[in-house]
Amino acid sequence: METGLFDVLGVAGPALLLALVVLVSMVHLELGPFTHLETPGKWLLTAALGAGVLAFIFKMSVALYLNPKPDRLLVLPHPDFSRRAAALPGPAAVLQYQPYQWQALPARAPGAATDPALVELGRQLFNETALSADGRLTCASCHDLLAAAGADGQPQAVGIGAQVGPRNSPTVWNSGFQSVLFWDGRAPSLEAQATGPILNPVEMGLSSGAEAERRLQALPAYGPAFRQAFGDPDISFTRVARALAAYERTLVTADSPYDRYVQGDQNALDPAQLRGMRLFQETGCINCHRGPAFSDASLLEKGAPLRIFPAFPNPLARRYGLDQEAGQPPGPRAWRVPSLRNVALTGPYFHNGRVRELKEAIRIMAVSQLDVAVPGVTPRQRFLFGADGQLQSVAQRSLSEADIDDLAAFLDALSSARLKTALSGRSGA
Ligand code: HEC
Ligand code: HEC
Repeated sequence: METGLFDVLGVAGPALLLALVVLVSMVHLELGPFTHLETPGKWLLTAALGAGVLAFIFKMSVALYLNPKPDRLLVLPHPDFSRRAAALPGPAAVLQYQPYQWQALPARAPGAATDPALVELGRQLFNETALSADGRLTCASCHDLLAAAGADGQPQAVGIGAQVGPRNSPTVWNSGFQSVLFWDGRAPSLEAQATGPILNPVEMGLSSGAEAERRLQALPAYGPAFRQAFGDPDISFTRVARALAAYERTLVTADSPYDRYVQGDQNALDPAQLRGMRLFQETGCINCHRGPAFSDASLLEKGAPLRIFPAFPNPLARRYGLDQEAGQPPGPRAWRVPSLRNVALTGPYFHNGRVRELKEAIRIMAVSQLDVAVPGVTPRQRFLFGADGQLQSVAQRSLSEADIDDLAAFLDALSSARLKTALSGRSGA
């Protein structure tokens, strides 16, 4: 958003008035009597000093008018940095730069169940057709663990009766690390999330939790399975959700080249991936996609899980309707920062699934979230005061096509080796 003339007048007007009142009283009550000036002399001095004040205000107004107003705080200090800096004595500590700590993914999600019977029950329910109204869909229909890296490869989810939902299916791999679930982060836990798709009319379409319970009670295998997992054969919808969540917490991929690199295997990443890793930090992607799960909405990194997207309105995001939710007024909204683990395997991208290519997703992120120009988006000139107090023009930061290739190569290094093998096995077959 550009700063309008009224914004400038709103700042400059009152400042000007205040400066003139101060000036007149200063000359007439202090300087004038002190230097024994007559009335005309006092007014001459007022005019001379006033011209200086006006010139300064004019310069400030020009600067304000030319620079886009930062209307949202985007680049938050890295929490590690501020926390550690605060702990150090003396004000100089604030200026010390703390390097970013790259971390591998733990092998277990926080709070993962240790009871194999509970996890096994969750696995069965995840693949249970009885939980969909037409008896044909399972959780795995939209979250195919091996054939689609935990997603479905579709732009938007296809539910019962071939109904197309409004959103893209995210992968369930590593969802156990996320602090909030769904694109808009509306579910606070996997347990709270799990009942959603079963009752969603365009997904699995059951009428109620009671219907899910009745359907499972009719299948003889579940009584014993629930007894093993919970100690008694009572089949309740809450237990269904608990078992599904327990199973999902076991879906962890810590076997990416990135993880091997961070654990000390110097050859795990190639030069392009290493350049991309550096760009990922330098460009500011880690402001939001940080920590081992590459998400600020992670249980391992206490950050801001939701971010405005697109934070800088731009033609690229508009082209894909990313600022236009059906039934909502157009404009940016708060979205959960997704994990980037396996992102190279889980396209199409974004909440509406309209972006097919990973590189295009990276371009959109750079422009929309970091105000960094990319090829095809002309960098703007900004006007800043240099150290010498003079206005100077500075080009907006930008990424080249080679930079975007490197960033994509780095994101590909976040792919699980096992999932990649499963996918290539399929496409080769
Ligand atoms: C018809 C396709 C479909 C089916 C069937 C389905 N899901 Fe999903 N799933 C989605 C979509 C679409 C989203 C994102 C919805 C949103 O953000 O509003 C999602 C989101 C999720 C998430 C959140 C992931 C994250 O990172 O936020 C989890 C976990 C999940 N589903 C698990 C399940 C489970 C468990 C089942 C079975 C009970 C299931 N899904 C059935 C399409 C489906
Ligand atoms: C200000 C926070 C922020 C910054 C900085 C940021 N992202 Fe994102 N990123 C998000 C949010 C929020 C989304 C989800 C958007 C949506 O709902 O569609 C997202 C989505 C993505 C996706 C799509 C994920 C998927 O599964 O569809 C990719 C890829 C991505 N970001 C990469 C990057 C890269 C590369 C950078 C650096 C150039 C970056 N991001 C910088 C917040 C950010």
